[in-house]
Amino acid sequence: MDFPRILSGNWDKPNSHTLAVARSCGTYSRVEMALKKAPSELIQIVKDSGLRGRGGAGFPTGMKWSFVPGPEKRGNKPVYLLCNADESEPGTFKDRYCMWKDPHLMIEGMIIAAHAIGCKVGYVYIRGEFRYIYDRLWEAVHEARAAGLLGENILGTGVDFQLHIHLGAGAYICGEETALISSLEGEKGQPKLKPPFPAVEGAWHCPTIVNNVETLAAVPWIIQNGAAAYKALGTEKSPGTKLFSCSGHIRKPGVYEIPLGYPMKDLLEIECGGLLPGRKLKAVIPGGSSVPVMTPEEVYKCTMDYESISTVAGSYLGSGGFIVMDDTTDLVDALTNLLRFYAHESCGQCTPCREGCGWMYHILCRVRDNCATAEDLVTLKDLADNIHSKTICFFGASAAMPVQSFLLKFKGEFLARIEAASKGIPAGSSVTSPEQRVGA
Ligand SMILES: Cc1cc2nc3c(=O)[nH]c(=O)nc-3n(C[C@H](O)[C@H](O)[C@H](O)COP(=O)(O)O)c2cc1C
Repeated sequence: MDFPRILSGNWDKPNSHTLAVARSCGTYSRVEMALKKAPSELIQIVKDSGLRGRGGAGFPTGMKWSFVPGPEKRGNKPVYLLCNADESEPGTFKDRYCMWKDPHLMIEGMIIAAHAIGCKVGYVYIRGEFRYIYDRLWEAVHEARAAGLLGENILGTGVDFQLHIHLGAGAYICGEETALISSLEGEKGQPKLKPPFPAVEGAWHCPTIVNNVETLAAVPWIIQNGAAAYKALGTEKSPGTKLFSCSGHIRKPGVYEIPLGYPMKDLLEIECGGLLPGRKLKAVIPGGSSVPVMTPEEVYKCTMDYESISTVAGSYLGSGGFIVMDDTTDLVDALTNLLRFYAHESCGQCTPCREGCGWMYHILCRVRDNCATAEDLVTLKDLADNIHSKTICFFGASAAMPVQSFLLKFKGEFLARIEAASKGIPAGSSVTSPEQRVGA
């Protein structure tokens, strides 16, 4: 398929992470272009392009930038730009590729975004486990600074932008924007109720824009080619291209850039190389572990955009973590594994999430270990329904939605496991008794 690789175009070039190679590919040429424009013009271009945030929620980027109060309203408060590079959602691994393969593109996007929102100091908040990427990013920032692309008076334009990198401690919740801000401030990484939204009151009580790595990396192309060119890619409501991290039972796992609106079937069969020989599709999680699971029928009807996934399958594009499960997958095991993650990562602030995630995990362990009754599934669903939308942040819903959707779409597999166990026939791929587990 012929379309511009906006985000991944330079990834295969040798030493693509260095300033010399980045510049030879045109990176930073958009900085001069952007710094000559008025901030309001930049915001309008990004608004018109229809770019939506790639961190999960898909919020329109230009609109978010326009929420930053102007100097007359914010007085002498600074504005901050935070790049969310926490990427901890199971099944999502695209931002680390962006930063590893082409860190200068993201930095260029940050310089342009900073000018648009009137920001002079920005941070990249990077996941604690990405120490090796931190080192590469650090080098890239220093190269850019030495070349006059960061710091004071960028390229003699009179515009200043200092960029710092902050290494987190490896908590999934710190990807949630308000928790990220608290963590950056040196506080406990726990979310806060919104409003106030960070654009109005964020880091150190100042207006703050939090954007995902991929969102920021898309900005230079939009500035260079214009909003209409970006809108010409993808669909009316989901314009542009997007990176998908594809994993699971496919022949070619990896990160693929495709225009939004691309058939899900083609992503599976062409980019991912299809399923392993002799296997059948059982389920797909299309947007990272937090979104509802899809059946094969839904997969074959859907296109990869925000609207289709929601209308056809009641699921979400999320952060683009495309997890494929074939007919060898034990869905009880798969869901138990997911809930183990959520039970471990809940920050503990809200009771429904703190207590409920562990409770759901323990019920699922009982199903997996052939010790559950059908009544346990009723309790499991009730728990998920009572966690969703009853917490400060979206983590609770993120843990509840996989449970709700697995039970809605694949309940038969859970019931069959319970029924077989009641007849003394252990089923599933990793059946061990609780005693064996304790002894292990
Ligand atoms: C539990 C949780 C974890 C999140 N983790 C990330 C993350 O790792 N990276 C990210 O960009 N957004 C993450 N988000 C979404 C952010 O809160 C925020 O919406 C996003 O960074 C905004 O950037 P965007 O508008 O460019 O998408 C997470 C949200 C929740 C509720």
